[in-house]
Amino acid sequence: MEKAERQMTKRPKISIYIAASIDGYIARKDNSLDWLDRVGGFDEDYGFKQLLDSVDSLIIGRKTYEIATTVLDPYPGKRVVVLSNTLKSVREGMELYRGDLAELVAKLHVEGTRHIWVDGGVTISQFLASQMVDHMTIGIIPIILGEGLPLFNVVGKELPCRLTSSHNYPSGLVQLNYELIKEFTPKKDKIIFKVVDFGSDDYKKSVSLREEILRKPLGLTFTQEELELEKDHIHIAGFLGQELCATAVLVPVGTTTKMQRVAIKSSFQNKGIGSLMMTFCEDYAREKGYESVYCHARGTAIPFYLKNQYALEGNPFEEDGIPHHKMRKILV
Ligand SMILES: NC(=O)c1ccc[n+]([C@@H]2O[C@H](COP(=O)([O-])OP(=O)(O)OC[C@H]3O[C@@H](n4cnc5c(N)ncnc54)[C@H](OP(=O)(O)O)[C@@H]3O)[C@@H](O)[C@H]2O)c1
Repeated sequence: MEKAERQMTKRPKISIYIAASIDGYIARKDNSLDWLDRVGGFDEDYGFKQLLDSVDSLIIGRKTYEIATTVLDPYPGKRVVVLSNTLKSVREGMELYRGDLAELVAKLHVEGTRHIWVDGGVTISQFLASQMVDHMTIGIIPIILGEGLPLFNVVGKELPCRLTSSHNYPSGLVQLNYELIKEFTPKKDKIIFKVVDFGSDDYKKSVSLREEILRKPLGLTFTQEELELEKDHIHIAGFLGQELCATAVLVPVGTTTKMQRVAIKSSFQNKGIGSLMMTFCEDYAREKGYESVYCHARGTAIPFYLKNQYALEGNPFEEDGIPHHKMRKILV
């Protein structure tokens, strides 16, 4: 997340830094961490000091607190907030919190915190679920524990992540650095386009997106009759993870196909997704044996289609009260 965006959302940067076994455990069932010794003694701190230097506060779960405080001063100079519904007090110099996590983060922000390290399996899953995590560093230790306390509990939603770097160390530890994707970045994130069935959940999501982008601004909605006519049309949808970001409809007309109802979600506009979807539609139509694709382009979209080898046909006309022009691309 960019600095400006974080300031806008009024919260500090939030990072996860944690070690897990290959089979995804962060501790043995009895809480022991002896297996981490396998990667100790290699004259390597795996970026831990850098992390500690960059954070001003920690938010840790009660169970992590109980293990961490077996040493005298586990997080020197840091503000430490312990989450617990059962503890009555915590070690002097640390703070106990129960309640809304977003409120806690906002409070820390107001009080000067700019970077938080969140630790503990149950705890990090809650922060992931509330979509407040910006960076995640996971160190995979070369061991299968077979059982233990899981790194992730049920997060309950899909969160697209971007691998920013990875390192493998002589000890066998593999470190994966991710950022949680808050917004689509062309070239880094892949939009997956697919054909969706008429009437399916993905189709319904596409109709909602079209309503929002194409109809609402005109004070119109899609009528049931209009949607019924779409039964034999080809419905294209583009997803970033589970999030629908673009949609279009291909209408077969003899040996050609009409591309219509093209809608890009507002937060994904002006990022080249229209071109990507158009290429998908053209490739699909070509593969199915259609000779050309045409569309009714709004006046403002004509330069875009011209740039993409669509040619003007006939005279301009009005559709939905807006000037349009028929434009066609021959598929070779
Ligand atoms: N491998 C690693 O790098 C690594 C890192 C950190 C920890 N660990 C290990 O992982 C184990 C602990 O992880 P864990 O997943 O079992 O638990 P955890 O996240 O450390 O602690 C869970 C506890 O935190 C409290 N809690 C969490 N969210 C809360 C909320 N929103 N409000 C109030 N209380 C909340 C609850 O305490 P109450 O039950 O008191 O309500 C809950 O039972 C320990 O063995 C620790 O040593 C390993």
